[in-house]
Amino acid sequence: MTPETNNKSHSVPQHIAIIMDGNGRWAKARGLDRTEGHRQGAETVKTIVKASAKAGVRYLTLFAFSTENWKRPQYEVDAIMNLLVFMLERETPELNRNNVKLLTIGDTSQLDKKAKESLKNSIETTANNTGLHLVIALNYGSRSEILLAVKKLADDVANRKANLDTINEINFTKYLYTHNIPDPDLLIRTSGEQRISNFLLWQLAYTELYFTSCTWPDFSEEEFSKAITTFASRERRFGLTGEQIEKNNDKPI
Ligand code: FPP
Repeated sequence: MTPETNNKSHSVPQHIAIIMDGNGRWAKARGLDRTEGHRQGAETVKTIVKASAKAGVRYLTLFAFSTENWKRPQYEVDAIMNLLVFMLERETPELNRNNVKLLTIGDTSQLDKKAKESLKNSIETTANNTGLHLVIALNYGSRSEILLAVKKLADDVANRKANLDTINEINFTKYLYTHNIPDPDLLIRTSGEQRISNFLLWQLAYTELYFTSCTWPDFSEEEFSKAITTFASRERRFGLTGEQIEKNNDKPI
């Protein structure tokens, strides 16, 4: 959302991005293997996708696997990938029934064959849906996204497809994974950590941040509503003064 479109405080964010953190700690606290935390976390994904569609959210972006997550023990990486495939196969008919369109951001070419096939199938199956856009960040890292964008731009400039004098903040975004996706209005991070961890660094410039100590497997529809209520109480100024925002709010939309 741009400053120009923020003339009213929107109570429901158009785009929510979530760093789903705390699966490992949730499992450890129960004497379970970390992978059990991811399994329960995948059920939370289902709950929050439904809650988002119900609340009228247009885009939900979930940080499921970072470029750094490959360094985790191999059995845990395999478990997350298997879970992704399992969830895609189990839930795609339900996504379709609920008019949810699946998208990904990140370098999915590096995922294993089975994960790539399942993603391709789910993306194709849901391609014509017009409801909630569910964006899964997989093998995603924001610095590498920006670097890739700069390389593509340099290539276009070298091939005279782009002109450095006309590149601006709007047309640069077409080089990012998130082109055609509006910037998040609200970022939620669960489990108490208060950092961005290389997630959507460009796109979060004016995003409201919400941190909760609740772990991702315990994050419920009620916790999600609390985040939306908090968002609704914030005044987004985009660098303007409070008085300027007030004045804009008095104008008809
Ligand atoms: C962070 O918790 C979670 C992950 C790195 C993986 C998230 C994956 C899922 C929720 C399951 C599959 C996803 C989909 C979209 C079906 P952590 O392991 O870093 O927790 P910790 O900080 O407590 O160790």
